[in-house]
Amino acid sequence: MSDVLLSVEELRAGFATAGGFVRAVDGVSFEIRRGEVLGLVGESGCGKTVTALALLRLLPRPPAVIEGGRALFHGQDLLAMPIAELRRIRGGKIGMIFQEPMTALSPLHRIGDQLVETARLHREISGAAAWALGLDWLKRVGLPDAAQRMTDYPHQLSGGMRQRVMLALALLPEPELVIADEPTTALDVTIQAQIFELLLRVRGGDTAVLLITHDMGVVWDVCDRVHVMYAARLAEKGPKAAVFDRPAHPYTRGLLAAMPRLHGKAERLPDIPGQLPSLIAPPPGCRFAPRCPLARDVCRRRAPRLRPVAPDHETACWDGIWEEAEKEAREQRAEGRGER
Ligand SMILES: Nc1ncnc2c1ncn2[C@@H]1O[C@H](COP(=O)(O)OP(=O)(O)OP(=O)(O)O)[C@@H](O)[C@H]1O
Ligand SMILES: [Mg+2]
Repeated sequence: MSDVLLSVEELRAGFATAGGFVRAVDGVSFEIRRGEVLGLVGESGCGKTVTALALLRLLPRPPAVIEGGRALFHGQDLLAMPIAELRRIRGGKIGMIFQEPMTALSPLHRIGDQLVETARLHREISGAAAWALGLDWLKRVGLPDAAQRMTDYPHQLSGGMRQRVMLALALLPEPELVIADEPTTALDVTIQAQIFELLLRVRGGDTAVLLITHDMGVVWDVCDRVHVMYAARLAEKGPKAAVFDRPAHPYTRGLLAAMPRLHGKAERLPDIPGQLPSLIAPPPGCRFAPRCPLARDVCRRRAPRLRPVAPDHETACWDGIWEEAEKEAREQRAEGRGER
């Protein structure tokens, strides 16, 4: 059996806006392997959430457009299958946890009824058995007074409690993959740590997690591999240890330098100077070039593709292969002339 659970190939998606087309995901490819925790990191606005929502077809259309790509789950393309089939997978084999629990919870229904509904949607069990299963999950996610909470409405719970309920709802169908988008940013630091610890402990043995975050500290604490996203593209992919020890992309080095914990300093180090380019009219060549301390002329002309630098470790940077960059740029110019 293949180790790959979900294979995303050349995903492209964006939004038609008054100012132009915002291409938020521009040719992103990656795979999630059975049982692993894969971190997707990058600055605010780089396209992390749109990547997750696009592959589950949860973007509002219009204004969103999925322009291309495939998302193969057990060999079946989530982007091409009938929507009814995808609905059975969402919340079943693929669980979702979002930053704001109220997007996943219905304000009008009791917690217990929501758990029962989810359980019966994905399993042939009686109402009583589903209620018992729901209660069991509330206990597993450490919700105090679980039996009593079953009859509460979401608004009667604190933010941290609601997050636990959402975790129970996502894990109850025993998903093979959980997509967690900044699941704890709205919570205080202690509860954040508890939620992650829970997620990793109570998920089934081979449940994979795609964890979206802008916090390298979280990646360090919980991920097996990490993918770094910059301006709608992937800049670096690799095992966590390799990316932290030998970051291959200058942007990754910037993210790590801005991370206080590794350096044992209380003060946060300065962020990478400059800002994310426009996704309506991104700069030609490498999108990080305007902020990159290593950028040469060629970087502004020719975009680097991901290339291997070590086993399982890839970077999209010309550093170290400048001759190749120049050659490609020359070819590009020659082609440009040929066309005219
Ligand atoms: N409905 C929309 N209409 C137009 N543009 C959008 C829409 N939703 C997202 N975008 C744009 O898509 C880009 C990527 O957004 P996305 O939400 O994926 O960022 P992110 O990496 O998840 O950031 P954050 O860390 O803040 O959550 C941004 O430029 C954003 O402004
Ligand atoms: Mg986001």
